[in-house]
Amino acid sequence: MNLFPIILAAGQGTRMRSSLPKVLHTIGGKPMLQHVIESCQQLDVEKTAIIYGHGGQQVRQVIEQAFEQTPDKAGDLLWVEQAEQKGTGHAVAQAQSLIDDDALVIIAYGDVPLIKSETLLQLAEKLEDANLAVLTAIQEKPQGYGRIVRNAEGKIESIVEDKDASEEQRQIREINTGFIAAKGADLKRWLTQIKPNNAQGEYYLTDCVALAVAEGGVVEALVCEDPLEAEGVNDRAQQAKLERAYQAAQAKQLLEAGVTLLDPARIDIRGSLVSGKDVSIDVNNVFLGKVVLGERVQIESGCVIKDAVIGDDCCIKANSVIDSAIIENHCDIGPFARVRPDTLVKENARVGNFVEIKKSTIGKGSKVSHLSYIGDTLMGADVNIGAGTITCNYDGVNKHQTTLGDRVFIGSDSQLVAPVTVGDDATIGAGSTITKDAPAGELTLSRANQLTIKGWQKPQKENK
Ligand code: UD1
Ligand code: CA
Repeated sequence: MNLFPIILAAGQGTRMRSSLPKVLHTIGGKPMLQHVIESCQQLDVEKTAIIYGHGGQQVRQVIEQAFEQTPDKAGDLLWVEQAEQKGTGHAVAQAQSLIDDDALVIIAYGDVPLIKSETLLQLAEKLEDANLAVLTAIQEKPQGYGRIVRNAEGKIESIVEDKDASEEQRQIREINTGFIAAKGADLKRWLTQIKPNNAQGEYYLTDCVALAVAEGGVVEALVCEDPLEAEGVNDRAQQAKLERAYQAAQAKQLLEAGVTLLDPARIDIRGSLVSGKDVSIDVNNVFLGKVVLGERVQIESGCVIKDAVIGDDCCIKANSVIDSAIIENHCDIGPFARVRPDTLVKENARVGNFVEIKKSTIGKGSKVSHLSYIGDTLMGADVNIGAGTITCNYDGVNKHQTTLGDRVFIGSDSQLVAPVTVGDDATIGAGSTITKDAPAGELTLSRANQLTIKGWQKPQKENK
């Protein structure tokens, strides 16, 4: 099939009350327009046209950036400017010169993010026996939508916009979702015949229906089973509604894949979450970007996990934040831990409460259990970092490296002033400020000698 999707994305979206173009507002952390483009591209189309206008440069920039990882796909996008928004028919007409006569054109909306590629395909397949296929839906509250007008035999005669509809037509609950499919040659012929003779003075794409019928053509409807799939976003309330629907669908997929979700209504995935067997996820966790969980991972409540790989049998305790890190098997993180980008936590390691790790390797079996900052550090195996340890990695201008050998023991409340190296099996006494390399196997400490004042008297309250 020679499919050619055209996505309408030029509208302003006034009701979002935003300076961001409407189609760039997100569902599941991804611009709505990107969702629609991806659904189109899943159909193995050669090219996809995008009609842009309002906030156009920004729309192009954001979308092109989003597709940077797949440059071949980005190249498949044809950007067509609609300088003035004179209606959906006018929008499609801007792409007229790009439409092949024998192409099966699918018109999609950039603000209908949940549309599935299978539905688009079914719509195009209708063209085997029809000249025009319209995706419709049954809405309890059809106000504002174009209504599908059928004749006595149930055949579609026209689409009437809400503003142009009679009282009787307003009772119709079958609505136009906006998605249509037609052969290129037919569509191009109809587009030249559309007139802005209506309440809004716009060129209505929906007039194609009456034009097709007048020619004796066949118009078929595909009724969308899930009305949410074809619902557009006009305001923040609709965006929020579709966000919940999108998250519910992802939660359902996880449950089907065997993941325990303590409450499927309280998980947010803004990106992708791949999960091994017997994983358990407590409430109010947010997953961003690409997150991969191994088998038997436990995620306690309230964590934010972004672009991370977490190995088998790890436990991420409550309220931890992990960003761009790799956690190997059998590690414990948190509660209240912050693991920042470029961190590798090796097998059997532990990062405890109120610990911040940045751009560091925590060695196999090593422990940073309480209240520490470890930055720009390469740590060996079986190291023990005492509570309150700080790597002083920044001199106000540059960042410096701390290197800790295997089996190093750092006493509590120590500062390691980088650049500094502590050799294998070295012990640093509690409360030390280490500014020079500490040799392997020795105890190093920097600490004022303890002093006791003999016979010292506690001050007394003056008696008046
Ligand atoms: C349109 C349909 C209506 C349908 C409804 C579904 C027409 C005439 N009406 O109405 O039957 O029920 O969608 O939501 O088609 N756009 C452009 N350029 C323009 C005008 C619109 O690109 O000049 C884009 C918008 O960005 C949006 C889409 O087309 O993505 C729909 O435009 P909108 O103004 O929301 O159409 P409705 O009046 O809601
Ligand atoms: Ca609309």
